Amino acid sequence: MRHRFHSICPYFAMFPETFVAKHLAATRFNGVVFDPFCGRGTTIFEALLNGREAAGCDLHPVAVCITGAKCNPPNRGEALARIDELEASLSILPPLPLSEEMAEFFAACFHTDTYEEVRFLRANLDWRNDRTDRFIAALCLGALHGESHRSPNYFSNRMPRTISTKPAYSVRWWVKHGYAAPRRDVFAILRNMVDFRFRTPPPESRGEVVESDARKANMAFPNLEGKVTDIITSPPYLDTTNYREDQWLRLWFLGEPPKSTQARDDGRHCNRTLYWSFLKEAWEGVAPLLAPQARVVVRIGGRKLSKEEMFASLSASLKDATGRLVKPVDDGVTTPVKRTQANSFRGAKASPTVEHDFCFLIS
Ligand SMILES: C[S@@+](CC[C@H](N)C(=O)[O-])C[C@H]1O[C@@H](n2cnc3c(N)ncnc32)[C@H](O)[C@@H]1O
Repeated sequence: MRHRFHSICPYFAMFPETFVAKHLAATRFNGVVFDPFCGRGTTIFEALLNGREAAGCDLHPVAVCITGAKCNPPNRGEALARIDELEASLSILPPLPLSEEMAEFFAACFHTDTYEEVRFLRANLDWRNDRTDRFIAALCLGALHGESHRSPNYFSNRMPRTISTKPAYSVRWWVKHGYAAPRRDVFAILRNMVDFRFRTPPPESRGEVVESDARKANMAFPNLEGKVTDIITSPPYLDTTNYREDQWLRLWFLGEPPKSTQARDDGRHCNRTLYWSFLKEAWEGVAPLLAPQARVVVRIGGRKLSKEEMFASLSASLKDATGRLVKPVDDGVTTPVKRTQANSFRGAKASPTVEHDFCFLIS
């Protein structure tokens, strides 16, 4: 049975755990498995399930919260006790100062009582420092918005579960169709979700996840110097998505101000020269962690790059960054990208149609 922690919260551009399992089975190494762009933690969690030591980082708080929840969870009893404690101390918080657009959005997105519970949890879950709170916060992220007409477990008015739609667009759509936010008992949903998720027991060992730029992975993980034998990762693709803008409501839940438009994280991702130098810098950040023999698996896509360019530029960036011998295992395996909910919202042009998996041995 698929482990129930895998799907704790959707996250786009995630790769399936079978991809990770296949590469773990193919490796002859047995050191630490590392993912410098860990997203929702598929590599780290699957590695733990396979009895491997694992760690990783990501810049995105949503990714760090979800991965941290999966890879260093509380036990079921601790999670349920904390939910009881939070419910018992529920209080109505003073209203948040909101722009007119945001006030309209929140009023239409959540039923008044649900909104108070959500805001209370937002203010009281210490998700960065406490693993039980992080687990509950990750459950909330997974339930915060979604197709609430299809499932009683989503807190919001009808929304896609993968991306947070823009406030004005969402309100126009709800008004046009006469959709009202459902009353949800957030604490009851959380208790049900804890029961559901813990039906598959968490792995014995824990994984380490740090909110860090991949380019500084060596500083974030000084304890892993020379210990990483396997990297299985998928970096952001060239000019494909702005992970912050599409996740603005989940970022709000994690404590950021309500803001649906953001400056691009890093202009380097929009032009191929800067993109490849960004990846080279990321490998430089990871290089000190690599063991004398290591295997690097990279899933990568992008409408503007040919497979040949990706292969050549990836090999070159790995060689330049590590100063070591980089030997491709094959020519790269190409697979079509499945049509996802996030892709359909971004429009066909924004999403790559194929992805390539490249594998290199570094010695
Ligand atoms: C393609 S996704 C990885 C998805 C992941 N494989 C999964 O299964 O969920 C790329 C990730 O890179 C992260 N990212 C982008 N720039 C980064 C950087 N400079 N350092 C670390 N992470 C970064 C994004 O936040 C995103 O989570």
